[in-house]
Amino acid sequence: MENYSMIIKLLVWQSLAAMALCQSPGFDFFYFVQQWPGAYCDTSRGCCNPTSGKPPSDFGIHGLWPNYNSGGYPSNCDSSNPFDPSQIQDLLSQLQTQWPSLTCPSSDGTSFWTHEWNKHGTCSESVLTEHAYFAAALNLKSQANTLASLTNAGITPNNSFYNLSDVLAAIKQGTGHDAYVQCNTDENGNSQLYQIYICVDTTGANFIECPVAPNQNCPSSIEFPSF
Ligand SMILES: *[C@@H]1O[C@H](CO)[C@@H](O)[C@H](O)[C@H]1NC(C)=O
Ligand SMILES: *[C@@H]1O[C@H](CO)[C@@H](O)[C@H](O)[C@H]1NC(C)=O
Repeated sequence: MENYSMIIKLLVWQSLAAMALCQSPGFDFFYFVQQWPGAYCDTSRGCCNPTSGKPPSDFGIHGLWPNYNSGGYPSNCDSSNPFDPSQIQDLLSQLQTQWPSLTCPSSDGTSFWTHEWNKHGTCSESVLTEHAYFAAALNLKSQANTLASLTNAGITPNNSFYNLSDVLAAIKQGTGHDAYVQCNTDENGNSQLYQIYICVDTTGANFIECPVAPNQNCPSSIEFPSF
């Protein structure tokens, strides 16, 4: 009888452990990263409009990146599940305007989305299918409404310089959580608003405080270039 209940306990413990393993998403949170096209384009490298045309004067999605609380991140998690454009046909027109590729030569965005899914998206496939992954990023962008948060605070993309703390406070108004900004430099060497990081829980649906901050390199006054 003793042995029998031991075995039952062991079996229960094993199946609970197996369930926990299955349910663990394999990462701790997402960075949702948006980029300002004006800052991407006015560097010495330059940019090319996508074949679908010049994107709107708005933040574009760079990616939705699974991360660890320890600061590292998983990448290229499942080569058996490569990007399949047929799964996101219904999202294509939204992706073209909201997740555009500005690299040269001009492209239709497919290689950008392929890279993002294969490198980052596959690391969240226990939670999000390919379609759900791209849909989640589009939803996060509209939820964050970052450009509106900035312009409502008088921070407009008109080549003026703004106080970094004011920029961060304005973005926080839109999401309820701290954001982080990365800068790049334009051809004249001015630091400018380039990328915005916001953290998201493992469902891909809710903004959270960042468990770990991304690298930050902006001075206290930054340019917001036009696009
Ligand atoms: C840019 O916009 C801000 C806020 O609307 C305004 O205060 C500033 O004067 C503008 N700068 C230029 C160069 O037009
Ligand atoms: C930016 O804003 C902070 C907080 O309001 C303020 O302490 C700081 O002096 C400002 N910096 C500039 C360059 O205006």
